[in-house]
Amino acid sequence: MDIATTPTNPDGNPELADAAPSPHDPPVIRREDYKPFPWLVPQTELDFDLGLEKTRVTAKLSVERNPAADASTHLRLDGDGLSALSVKVDGDAVNDWEMDGPGLVLPLPGDSHTVEIVAEIDPSANTQLMGLYASNGMLCTQCEAEGFRRITFYPDRPDVLSTYRVRMSGPKEQFPILLCNGNREATGEREDSTHWAEWHDPWPKPSYLFALVAGDLVANSKPFTTMSGREVECNIWVRKEDLERTDHALESLHRSMKWDEETFGREYDLDLYNIVAVSDFNMGAMENKGLNVFNTKYVLADSDTATDADFDAVEGVIAHEYFHNWSGNRVTCRDWFQLSLKEGFTVLRDQLFSQDMRGEAVKRIEDVRILRAAQFPEDAGPLAHPIRPDSYREISNFYTATVYNKGAEVIRMMRTMAGVERFRKGTDLYFERHDGEAATCEDFITAIEDGAGLDLKDFRRWYRQAGTPTVTAAIEHSGDKTLLTLTQSVPPTPGQPDKQPMPIPLKVAMFDRETGKHGGEQLVILDGKQKSVHFEGFEKPPILSINRGFTAPVIIERNVSTDDLVFLASHDDDSFARYEALQELAVRHLVAAASGEMSDQKRVEGRNAIVSAMHAILTDEALDDNMRGELMMLPSETYLFEAMATGKRKADPGAIHEQREGLRRAIGRGLAEELAATHQRTSAVAFDDPAGVGARKVKTQALALISAGDPDKAAEIAAQQFDSADNMTDRQGALMVLCSLEHPARQEKLAAFYDRFKENALVVDKWFTLQALSLHPDVIEQVRALATHPDFTMKNPNRVRSLYMAFAGNPQGFHAADGSGYRMIADVILELDPINPQTAARFVPALGRWRRIEPGRAALMKAELERISEADGLSRDTFEQVTRSLEG
Ligand code: TRP
Ligand code: ZN
Repeated sequence: MDIATTPTNPDGNPELADAAPSPHDPPVIRREDYKPFPWLVPQTELDFDLGLEKTRVTAKLSVERNPAADASTHLRLDGDGLSALSVKVDGDAVNDWEMDGPGLVLPLPGDSHTVEIVAEIDPSANTQLMGLYASNGMLCTQCEAEGFRRITFYPDRPDVLSTYRVRMSGPKEQFPILLCNGNREATGEREDSTHWAEWHDPWPKPSYLFALVAGDLVANSKPFTTMSGREVECNIWVRKEDLERTDHALESLHRSMKWDEETFGREYDLDLYNIVAVSDFNMGAMENKGLNVFNTKYVLADSDTATDADFDAVEGVIAHEYFHNWSGNRVTCRDWFQLSLKEGFTVLRDQLFSQDMRGEAVKRIEDVRILRAAQFPEDAGPLAHPIRPDSYREISNFYTATVYNKGAEVIRMMRTMAGVERFRKGTDLYFERHDGEAATCEDFITAIEDGAGLDLKDFRRWYRQAGTPTVTAAIEHSGDKTLLTLTQSVPPTPGQPDKQPMPIPLKVAMFDRETGKHGGEQLVILDGKQKSVHFEGFEKPPILSINRGFTAPVIIERNVSTDDLVFLASHDDDSFARYEALQELAVRHLVAAASGEMSDQKRVEGRNAIVSAMHAILTDEALDDNMRGELMMLPSETYLFEAMATGKRKADPGAIHEQREGLRRAIGRGLAEELAATHQRTSAVAFDDPAGVGARKVKTQALALISAGDPDKAAEIAAQQFDSADNMTDRQGALMVLCSLEHPARQEKLAAFYDRFKENALVVDKWFTLQALSLHPDVIEQVRALATHPDFTMKNPNRVRSLYMAFAGNPQGFHAADGSGYRMIADVILELDPINPQTAARFVPALGRWRRIEPGRAALMKAELERISEADGLSRDTFEQVTRSLEG
């Protein structure tokens, strides 16, 4: 298929080049083809006549020639599934416009005009959940990235900024609350039982930040006073029955507002901040100006229905969307290739916020775990792309762990190199220089260079090159001199066979074997292919602690003995490094065992070393439970696949699973008493004790390990934990363990859980997820049966993910040797694609990992991808992901 011949158009705008997409070969959009839009749109007036089945949208655009762009005789507007009922120019109806694929083109002779277009849409038929759609009887919008063109014809690209004035009207009983961006300036009622509201957003914005909500909602409100003394009305809008679960979200919003003032000097800029929770939503939440729309999952939380982890996730997502008000809205993106400009930076900001709220060490470990579980596999597979991609067919496919999480890591490295204070000078300069603009990643880097006084010339390669670098660390010791040599290599990725070295900041420390201390931590910047650093004063070869705090998103390779890892696991004063040493111990053991490179005796020795490290973790009284809970977690199977699939070696999911379970069994049996004691101790901590969160984390970790060693005993303890639980964390933890067991309590507690919470969709999602994630041998049959449960539907993304995304992340089920797991996910993709392509395409990467899996399973995975690719009428989203997965 020839992808080089992207059609162009009079405006030369790459985004509009896709005006005539062929479903079989959607065009490739390229970063290097960027051209400014020929027209400015200083003002946009929208009038919505709202109805669930029919909404009439009148859009009035004032347009002016863009002096910074090539002149054009035509105005080309994006559209998607729209037809125009009327078109007026400067107040007069015209008919010299035409459709160009899904878009609309009309001739414009002068330098400034008003263009008015009327269109009608059916929100109730919008199952894609992009544009204006109905959810639970209310109307809401999702416009990022290209959903606004499903509402009205418009230059739907982030570099066209406009001031919006919106009038909305609709039946008052059905939609008592009418919300939009900015401030509400007028309201009124009509005699026909409809009412209306007029909203004005004073801040120019791109169309992707537009939002509108109409529905029967109530608010939890509390004003926030900003650093300059302005009062902001903050509202969390939900359905009436959910109101009691909104306090945590509201408090999180206030904490975020305060933190951004203190940490980045950023103040909120409107008198109103609205958040609306909706139950049908493709992603987590959306930062629309002054009117965030959230997945209910990231708003609603109380201790009876949400786990401690859910509470943290709510706080993190509320913060993320709030922080976008500066990193995203006040300074937005020039084009979608710059997505990491707002997402990477905002993820870093929300991570730093959560570190400050909950403790730096544990949060850092969690974030690295996410990076390794989601981003490392992406970077090592066919869908690998730089944090600033060079091309795409469907931008929705690039809201990835690479753009978000690796993007955050790249900016974090700049912060590490500059230091906190100089980094702040850089971000201040960035916001000052680019406020009100649509900026690029290059603008950000330059502002950090100028403000923080860094030279980032070579560092820019992090934006261009995909793939996780490997750093090899070697130590030579003679006399009292030690030489540390670091060598980097960046692997080839699709379309990028050769890589240049990238500056890699690594915090290192050398531990003296005798004293158990190090002589100070230092930041080494590996700024070429290789670099050597000298250390003095160690009589014996010192022990290297490297990438402390995970200063760089790289893989470290080194020759290190088990003893040295055990030393670091118990002595390192950097908590992350301590965690890392334990992970490394487990990874090395499990990968070697799964590769069949190990004698039985070595395996027993290896297991024993880990069992005794775990013993130390369980009994170390200096550790707080929150950290203990992290240290107790073994590396995930997905991460182990990555570690196993190096060089020519492929990952063997069956062998990894078997070895990992074997190790868990050894821990469960070897430490039965300690685990039981730990479970007992943590069970005695009261729910609202300050140590409660840590205790609950350790409690369920302990229970899970007990279940590996003694399933019957675990079933008993779990049933008891379930029955006596006064919170969702303990209840879900107990049920998770029960789900994997063959025991009468399994069914009994599952039924009790469902019965108690069947009215609460978010808890029913948990009920589906727990079963889809279980280690039960019949998990595939169970998932198949759950798909016919009356509560299951393909129309609600949370529900689809709760069953099938969980299952795709269950290595035992998904990688079943007969391929039935792969077939199930391929069937889901095919069934979901016509309903919600964005969500369907998100299942493809799981199958796309076939090249790194052993040949038997790889062939089955590839066959499923091929089956999908042969289907008629695939969406752009799924087509692109499947094609890349087969080619890359
Ligand atoms: N910009 C949003 C965020 O990161 C996420 C987002 C992008 C989104 N596209 C979306 C949300 C589509 C829902 C649907 O916060
Ligand atoms: Zn975001």
